Amino acid sequence: MRIAIAEDYDELSEMAAHATAEYINNNPETLICLAAGDTPLGMLEILVDMHRHKEVDLSTVYYAGLDEWVGLGPEDIGSCAKVMSDAFYNPAGIPKDRIHVFDGLDKDIDKQCRSMEAWISHHGGIGFTLLGIGMNGHIGFNEPGTPDTKGCFSVKLDNTTKTVSAKYFGKSRPVSTGMTIGWRTLLDAQTGIIMASGELKAPIVKAAVEE
Ligand code: F6R
Repeated sequence: MRIAIAEDYDELSEMAAHATAEYINNNPETLICLAAGDTPLGMLEILVDMHRHKEVDLSTVYYAGLDEWVGLGPEDIGSCAKVMSDAFYNPAGIPKDRIHVFDGLDKDIDKQCRSMEAWISHHGGIGFTLLGIGMNGHIGFNEPGTPDTKGCFSVKLDNTTKTVSAKYFGKSRPVSTGMTIGWRTLLDAQTGIIMASGELKAPIVKAAVEE
């Protein structure tokens, strides 16, 4: 594990975008797992810009959405699918058949999980993960106390996650469950980045690194 500290959010975004582009350039048919959330937005914008300037080709790789709020669909403001379509997949013009995300509106959560697992295994596992970390230390929706499990599953959301979620929806929504790729499957990726930004995240980043 390597810890890199950036001067500010812009530098963090540059560093993460360039590391991701370098991985894609070296592994043009890999499967990339992308977190939504606020932290990666700057790096995604840079990555799309690099794609437009032909410094990286984002259309050769495959994508897996890391997680989703159960009950929110791809058109719902704040859903992981919508955040990523608006910030990345649409501006980069990624073909739809290269993207697989959870459908939070499907009542059959188990089917959603099996379908994501099949997508990951079809591509020989995840090559690269671009992750954030929650205020409670969660990665994806692997909440504190989630077992170290392979595959995908649904999770009862932690109170911190529910409280923080209002920032994505523009209002409070009664979310209680999430679907996520499991921590063990993420750790099995060839390589990846966990991004964190801002003073508020400092204590949890310290705990995650040291504990
Ligand atoms: C989002 C996700 C979450 C976020 C984390 C940090 O798809 O998986 O684990 O990465 O909650 O969110 P931000 O970046 O908004 O602080």
